[in-house]
Amino acid sequence: MRILIAQSTEEFGALAFNEMIKIIKSNPSCTLGLATGSTPIPLYDAMAKDHAENGTSYKNVTTFNLDEYVGLPKEHPESYISFMKKNLFSRIDIDMKNVNIPNGQADDIAAECKRYSALLEKASVDIQVLGIGGNGHIAFNEPGTPFDSKTHRVQLTQKTISDNARFFSTIDEVPKSALTMGIGEIMRAKKLLLLANGKNKADAVYNMIKGPVTTDCPASVLQNHPDVVVILDQSAAEKI
Ligand code: GLP
Repeated sequence: MRILIAQSTEEFGALAFNEMIKIIKSNPSCTLGLATGSTPIPLYDAMAKDHAENGTSYKNVTTFNLDEYVGLPKEHPESYISFMKKNLFSRIDIDMKNVNIPNGQADDIAAECKRYSALLEKASVDIQVLGIGGNGHIAFNEPGTPFDSKTHRVQLTQKTISDNARFFSTIDEVPKSALTMGIGEIMRAKKLLLLANGKNKADAVYNMIKGPVTTDCPASVLQNHPDVVVILDQSAAEKI
């Protein structure tokens, strides 16, 4: 596990971008695993800036997103597909046919999970971006999720619901469940790029890096992956 600590938001984005661009330059038909949340925004800003200034093309890039809320219309500004369009896809030349994200509005949620898992099984994700929840979750894999899990539906914990309430007008609007890539599928990516910033992530970051490998802290599973880069700001790194 390589741990990099950024001194500013700009450096945070630049360090993350540096890991991404190496992969995209070495294989313009690569597969990227993407994440939502406020943490990866500096990375997406850097990708959009580079695309505008240097013309890096994403025409042949395929993407897989980690998760999506259940029951939120795709057009809702807080759906993860809307988030991705706004923060990245509309700012680069990606072909939306190559974008994969679980469909949280599927009539048959179990069939949707199987469909997504089957796509992931055929894919080979070159780099997977991850954030971390204040309780150590990765994607929406909450504490207690088995390490070999595949795409599944989760009931969000009260902590995650209240953490995510800042994006909605009231806490009652936060969806109570979501579809998430499983931990087993995340771990199949060739490289993992975990990003964390802010004081409220410091305990989760400590447990991920220094704690025991346990489903109590889903992110601790990263200790078992051979190629992980962790990028932190100073507050998220204060306990390690
Ligand atoms: C949500 C997402 C996670 C993300 C986490 C942290 O729960 N499902 O993938 O890592 O939020 O979000 P933020 O980066 O906004 O702190």
